[in-house]
Amino acid sequence: MKKILVINGPNLNMLGKRKEVHYGSLTLDIINAKMITLAKELDLSLTFYQSNVEGDLVSTIHTGMDFDGLMINAGAYTHYSYAIADALEILDIPKIEVHLSNIHARESFRSNSVIASSCTGQISGFKENSYILALYALKNLLKD
Ligand code: DQA
Repeated sequence: MKKILVINGPNLNMLGKRKEVHYGSLTLDIINAKMITLAKELDLSLTFYQSNVEGDLVSTIHTGMDFDGLMINAGAYTHYSYAIADALEILDIPKIEVHLSNIHARESFRSNSVIASSCTGQISGFKENSYILALYALKNLLKD
């Protein structure tokens, strides 16, 4: 079974309390539960990690060496963390950048992702379904 690492960065542990218009109303635990249901169907195993600390996110990305694929919502670090971008660049596995909101349709600072060029692709703007779509994308990239 292929192994997927699901990483969430700062403030994503507060989903459910953040602005619904951008992030929807579901908690991270509920989103993760939806992903587990789909992962069973797709025959993928999921490992979840969330941190508000940049260095801890970098160290967890390094563990991606032991996984077949990864998805990451780096939160606000998306827009300025070269450390996270560099860590992602090390990994030679499919890597999907995920955002609940459409980062291209908000404040101008959000439309720049410094991690995008280190990722296989970006899914942005589908609220909790961004994670679901990322799982389908990884399944497709890892087929056979
Ligand atoms: C986010 C978008 C970021 O700009 C923001 O800082 C977040 C969440 C999203 O999922 O839409 O914390 O990554």
